[in-house]
Amino acid sequence: MKTMYWKDDLLYLLDQTLLPHEIEYLVCGTYQDVITAIKTMIVRGAPAIGVAAAFGMALAYLAGEDLEEVACQIKDARPTAVNLFWAVDRVLDAEDPLIEALHMYEEDIQTNRSMGKHGAAVIDEGDTILTHCNAGALACVDYGTALGVIRAAHEEGKNINVICDETRPVLQGARLSVWEMQQENIPVKLIVDGAAGRLMQEGQVNKVVIGADRVAKGGIANKIGSLMVALAAKRFNVPFYVAAPKSTFDNENSIYDIEIEERNPGEVLGFAGCQAAPIGTEVRNPSFDVVPSDLITGIITEEGIVDPFKDSFHPLINLFYF
Ligand code: MRU
Repeated sequence: MKTMYWKDDLLYLLDQTLLPHEIEYLVCGTYQDVITAIKTMIVRGAPAIGVAAAFGMALAYLAGEDLEEVACQIKDARPTAVNLFWAVDRVLDAEDPLIEALHMYEEDIQTNRSMGKHGAAVIDEGDTILTHCNAGALACVDYGTALGVIRAAHEEGKNINVICDETRPVLQGARLSVWEMQQENIPVKLIVDGAAGRLMQEGQVNKVVIGADRVAKGGIANKIGSLMVALAAKRFNVPFYVAAPKSTFDNENSIYDIEIEERNPGEVLGFAGCQAAPIGTEVRNPSFDVVPSDLITGIITEEGIVDPFKDSFHPLINLFYF
């Protein structure tokens, strides 16, 4: 199942709001279609948002639009994943936006495969790995970042088990990560987010591997709930790894400068379309956490694994701890 593909000057996006029960592609013929798809999370996950945005720029180029103006509009679609800004700027600097977008599409797959290879080295035979949200093929063009590491370990023949946090309120873990693991025949169990600490306390988790929406000075940003998982992992001595490609690195900002997307209160007020909380309840719905470096064992990249302490002034990451 492809997350997205380009055919006859149109972008096809697998509608992730309908997964896993309905498989439907949205056809985008304009850059505005792509913006709507990013805002409504038809396409989601940092690398996938980046590549879709690149194709949005390509659509605008083919339609003869003012690319500087379109770039501002596309960058406005969601604030936290840095891949969106990285991808739009890269296409803006390119001679041919369509060729660049197609190049980024292929590059994403290769990057994830290299990341998987590096990451698989820290996964041991018999490990049970906990993951949060969906940093899988669906969050990318293919293969995935955190789930790419798990896929690679499985492809190497290691017997592993996966635990997926459901990831309230949009349920990327329950709907998307569990589905991806089942398709690969990797043993997987689903838990509510609040059970992650309990399972670590019981000694049932050997590693945590999650993705990132941004790696910045001082740590990473990832789906809400990631901080609680990291804190529990620290308390129970479970190694906590983050898998992220270079396109997710922001070398300018600190994690505390990142704009954290606040989403619709309706996502929290109810469940599966039914109101659960009393009418009129006030809500906070931050969509991302930031996790400081002192809670991170290593960052798995396509170039190798970086230790946020030992490599605290790594030229690639500049991940100084504070
Ligand atoms: O809001 P989403 O679904 O776009 O959230 C982003 C994510 O998918 C996760 O935070 C993920 O773990 C990192 S992206 C590979």
